Amino acid sequence: MSVNKEVKRITTHILQEMKNRGEKIAMLTAYDYSMAAIVDNAGMDIILVGDSASNVMAGHETTLPITLDQMIYHASSVVRAAKRALVVVDLPFGSYQGNSKEALNSAIRIMKEAGAHAVKMEGGIEIAESVSRILTAGIPVMGHLGLTPQSIYKFGTYTVRAKQEAEAQKLREDALKLQELGCFGIVLEKIPAKLAKEVSESVQIPTIGIGAGRHCDGQVLVIHDMLGINDGFKPRFLRQYSNLFEQMNGAIKNYIGDVKSKSFPNEQEQY
Ligand code: KIV
Repeated sequence: MSVNKEVKRITTHILQEMKNRGEKIAMLTAYDYSMAAIVDNAGMDIILVGDSASNVMAGHETTLPITLDQMIYHASSVVRAAKRALVVVDLPFGSYQGNSKEALNSAIRIMKEAGAHAVKMEGGIEIAESVSRILTAGIPVMGHLGLTPQSIYKFGTYTVRAKQEAEAQKLREDALKLQELGCFGIVLEKIPAKLAKEVSESVQIPTIGIGAGRHCDGQVLVIHDMLGINDGFKPRFLRQYSNLFEQMNGAIKNYIGDVKSKSFPNEQEQY
């Protein structure tokens, strides 16, 4: 596959054009400068500074503890590395649910202090006022429906969402609402592929799936999962492209062995 590196910066308009011509959108998370530089250089369309940083960077069980200040720290490192990709940043739990003024202030901080290009928010009709207010300020918003990890204590489990008709219908309506408000895209997480296909065909804006099947307009994964850094995390939807846990573990063990056996550093590795 050839990646067009001529493009200066992916914009929300380019993403829309990609959907219109049937070109799939690639999105991956990153949380720090070095990883983001590798991801960007590979030709990624969107880098998501996900609140999954709470899990994979900070070791929390859920995404709830991460703060707005911490998201801004991660996002600013990623923005410094991203020359081509559109950088989308999650509004963390507690930074937008209170009221739309608070939501706007949080989004403005992410844009101003981190230099992000867009924000992502979990939820549908219930956050419509906040989404609308942020959009009115000229900040692009990406929606997130289906499994919304910030509501994990309401759901109780991380299993597939919207299998029942009532929840599927709410999701269909939420997707149309987010489009009507002016969102530039919607993440669909862990819902049946058939429903994701239906939603992707019913909205004009791009849908980006994670555990939502092949008919979404793009796909997103958490970088630690697809590189196999998280040993033992292998949900059905995940394609693991590497096993960095094993590779890094081996390299680190070799280093320890070399230090202990006094073979590192050698004569060439000293001044
Ligand atoms: O926080 C995150 O990484 C996400 C993706 C799973 C879509 O929201």
